[in-house]
Parts: sequence; structure tokens; C-alpha cells
Amino acid sequence: MNEDIRNIVILTGAGISAESGLATFRGPDGLWEGHRVEDVCTPEALARDVGLVHRFYDERRAKLAEVVPNAAHEALAALDRAWAGDLLIVTQNVDDLHERAGARRLLHMHGELKSALCAACGKAVAWAGPLPPASICEGCGRAALRPDIVFFGEMPYEMDRIDTALRDADLFVSIGTSGAVYPAAGFVQTARHVGARTLELNLDPSAGSFYFEESRMGPASELVPELVWELLG
Ligand code: OAD
Repeated sequence: MNEDIRNIVILTGAGISAESGLATFRGPDGLWEGHRVEDVCTPEALARDVGLVHRFYDERRAKLAEVVPNAAHEALAALDRAWAGDLLIVTQNVDDLHERAGARRLLHMHGELKSALCAACGKAVAWAGPLPPASICEGCGRAALRPDIVFFGEMPYEMDRIDTALRDADLFVSIGTSGAVYPAAGFVQTARHVGARTLELNLDPSAGSFYFEESRMGPASELVPELVWELLG
């Protein structure tokens, strides 16, 4: 596996945190922790019912204290420590399990539960505990802090950095994501376009499985450590 591979981009989704006890988004009932995504994850939802949206993310933030990284997060952190070439772990997850496992070359393209964003000036600050609506931004002094989550219709973070990494990649790996949400779902096509090898690790075939050269089906806690040992030889 590791012959000729120097630069790696890894995309992770909710499936990598499922075995830690965090719910995925698209369960069989189509709800996320009992809510329709459009009721808690859109700018319209925030405008309509700010209390509901803040409470929802307060509960998700509190839940982080009850869970720990699993073998898949640990394996990626080990890869991050040992891999001599370029590596970028792009997570769609808003939990903090990758960093708690020790991953450093990581970016959160859909935001972070442990961050609050000022809707007025754009400054983000680390946040623990509940985030009451209309909390004051320490940057501009306005009562405009909201969860630092990229809602549907908003631009994910660091797209230029992701695009540059994908264009330099020799290997693109997608782990535990349904491939239902763009632009992340399109990364495999960029990787293929530049000639990178493409590999999917998922419990079930995803919406974009057919774009990948290789798909391995099974739990992330087994497949990810196996892949990391292959890469590290
Ligand atoms: P989804 O819930 O859409 O998909 C999770 C995927 O993980 C599914 O394909 C499952 O089969 C797979 N899966 C579940 N358990 C697994 C396990 N133990 N090992 C491996 N795979 C497993 O979650 P995402 O694709 O991450 O956006 O969703 C993408 C985005 O949609 C999220 O980032 C979120 C949501 O709306 C925002 O919050 C902005």
C-alpha cells in the first residue's frame, strides 16, 4: 500500500465517532438525535428558534464529556505522529475526538462544538459548557455569539487549504461518511482527477462508493487500524 505514497488526505465523517457513542446524522429514521436537520442546522432555524438551536448544540457539547476516542481515532493519531510525508485529516465532525486522540494535522471543515462564533464580527472563541443565546463577543462586544457550526447553505471552512492538499495527494481515504453532503462528497473526484489512489472505509456502501478505486466495508475501529499498519509497514 505505501509504495509511492507520500502525501495523504483523509476525510472523516460521523461513522468514525459512532463506536465512541455519538449518533450519526442519517440514521434509519432520518433524524439526528430526534431532530430534522433543517430544524437545527440551518441559518433559518437559528433565526426562527434560537433557543432550540442553542439547546441542541449545548446537549451535543455536554455529551462530549461522556465519550472517548476509539481505536480508529487513535490509529489516525498514530499515523499523524509517524507519517513523514504530508498528511491532512479533514473531518466533517464537530466533536473533538480526533484531537483528544492526539491528531495534530487536522481541520474541522464543518466547525466545532467547542467553539463559539460571533455572527457580527466573525471572531471564533473556544467555548465549554452551555452557550446562552445573545452571549457577548469579547472581540466586538456585540450580543451575537452562536454555535460555531457550518450550517447548510454556509461555506465550509478552509476549502482552499483542502483543495491544495487534495491536488498534491497520492492517496485519498474517506472514512465513515455517507457521501451525501457536498463539497466533502466531491473530494474523491478531485483526488481521482489528479491521479491519487482512492479508498473508502465505511460500514455500508456510501452514495459515492462507485467513485472509489477500492471500498472496504466494516467498522472503523477495525478497518482504520488495519489501514494504518499497512501504511506504516
Ligand atoms: P452520516 O450520518 O450521513 O453518515 C455516516 C456514515 O457512517 C454512514 O455511511 C454509515 O454507514 C457509516 N458508519 C456508521 N457507523 C460506522 C462505523 N462504526 N464504522 C464505519 N462507518 C460507520 O454522516 P456524515 O457523512 O458525516 O454536517 O454527514 C455529513 C454531514 O452531514 C455532517 O458533517 C453534518 C451533516 O449534516 C453539518 O453539521 C454541517
